[in-house]
Amino acid sequence: MHAKALPIGSAFFVYLKKQLHMKSHRNSALELSKEQFKEIGYQLIDNLSNFIDTIQEKPITRGENPKELLKVLGDFHLPKEGTSTSILVSETTDLILKHSLFNGHPKFLGFITSSPAPIGALADLLAATANPNVGAHVLSPIATEIEKQTIQWLCEFIGVPNTYGGLLVSGGNMANFTGFLAARTAKAPKTIKTDGISNAKSKLTVYCSKTTHTWIEKATILFGLGTNSIRWIETNKANKMNIDVLKETIQKDINEGCKPIMVIGTAGDVSTGVVDNLKEISKVCNQHDLWFHIDGAYGVPAAIVSDLKDVFNGLEDADSIALDPHKWLYNPLEAGCTLVKNPVHLTNTFSSHPEYYNFANNEDEQVINYYEYGLQNSRGFRALKVWMALKQIGRNGYQKLISEDIELSKLLFEEAKNHDLFEAVTQNLSITTFRFVPENITDENYLNKLNEAIVNTLQLGGEVFVSNAIIDNTYCLRACFVNFRTSKKDIPEIIQIIEKVGNKLHTELMQ
Ligand SMILES: Cc1ncc(COP(=O)(O)O)c(C=O)c1O
Repeated sequence: MHAKALPIGSAFFVYLKKQLHMKSHRNSALELSKEQFKEIGYQLIDNLSNFIDTIQEKPITRGENPKELLKVLGDFHLPKEGTSTSILVSETTDLILKHSLFNGHPKFLGFITSSPAPIGALADLLAATANPNVGAHVLSPIATEIEKQTIQWLCEFIGVPNTYGGLLVSGGNMANFTGFLAARTAKAPKTIKTDGISNAKSKLTVYCSKTTHTWIEKATILFGLGTNSIRWIETNKANKMNIDVLKETIQKDINEGCKPIMVIGTAGDVSTGVVDNLKEISKVCNQHDLWFHIDGAYGVPAAIVSDLKDVFNGLEDADSIALDPHKWLYNPLEAGCTLVKNPVHLTNTFSSHPEYYNFANNEDEQVINYYEYGLQNSRGFRALKVWMALKQIGRNGYQKLISEDIELSKLLFEEAKNHDLFEAVTQNLSITTFRFVPENITDENYLNKLNEAIVNTLQLGGEVFVSNAIIDNTYCLRACFVNFRTSKKDIPEIIQIIEKVGNKLHTELMQ
């Protein structure tokens, strides 16, 4: 057997290069060839587009319990060996599209979870494929610039100067936490960063209305103030923070040696959608040199509707604002955002310069390293889906969708008001509360029990999904319209379905 002769001279180098090139292709189990990615990807997109096209015909949920779901999933151990990628993707698509709850269904009106804009799904695929780490500019050059532009656009959207700075976070809780920590750094004694809260001479206190979302409790627990630092201010008849009580409470705390640091105004409370009197809160903050934070996680995008200008008067006075693109900007989960009037408060709070990060720091104002703006270090490219949706439909598109959601909420309120078996309770922004009241029933305990049973039944039934609100001890059904698929025709159908379920449960409970 003759040994194969090696090429000589320049031909040898070509040969060597070829050998090296072949060796650089590691045979990795995770890699997909171009053809595989295309074939499996096209199949996935085909299935997803069919799903989106027929979502209104599917039940919102199958109401399966954990035991039933475990049966579907199979109780296996961690697989030892891998499996065929195309079978895996096709079976998983089936699993997810059969057994999920679909908040993209036109009759999903629960909590504050929007229908997801399909552009967001495409954006997430694109973002995950490029996979920039938006913690540092050097790791995410174009992604960082897109996030900066997204922040500017969100400022323009809600009508505050685009000199506010900020960042995208996972949702409303994180957006509020980020504002809370910036407030703590700005208004607590300067030693707080080195000596911690336990060495503060005076007790730090924060002020918010009774309707404030539960994030405030988590924030005070996590960031050292404790829940006793929260002053829950009474609301007035309109369910807005009572400004006189706010003033009195702050003064009393100052007299007793506490150190008030911030007031939280809510722009769209989770239960009924009420917006606090932001201008009045801002004045109180100015008077006492307090940080003014607005939790607009749900409601603040409605500031784009010109008819609501007065409702949001004072927004531009906020030191920080939380808003959630995954609520009323219809982005798929997860996308929250914190805006801060003077972004230096963010770097004062979150910046550090370890020796292993050779990133340019903010001496060059053009360069933002987002790890210095918030709690996260490595960060995904959340901004892309927000940016793409804003570009897809623009200011006018959003104005129309948000106004229509508000109209649908008003329509539901009217339908309930004009129906013999319903009582309309509140309507603010795009949230309607109402209840089912059978003929000749006046027992409030019974009505609460009946309406609670209606909510529980609807949430598993798959026809209409609403959540609940307790208003002055009255158990109400609550519909929140942050759904670009709901239309006028759904409103009488929703009333009909609830009437059917209400009558059935009433008959059963009376037996
Ligand atoms: C007013 C308000 N703030 C904060 C949050 C928390 O938002 P997330 O669930 O995105 O953390 C919510 C959620 O509904 C909310 O309505």
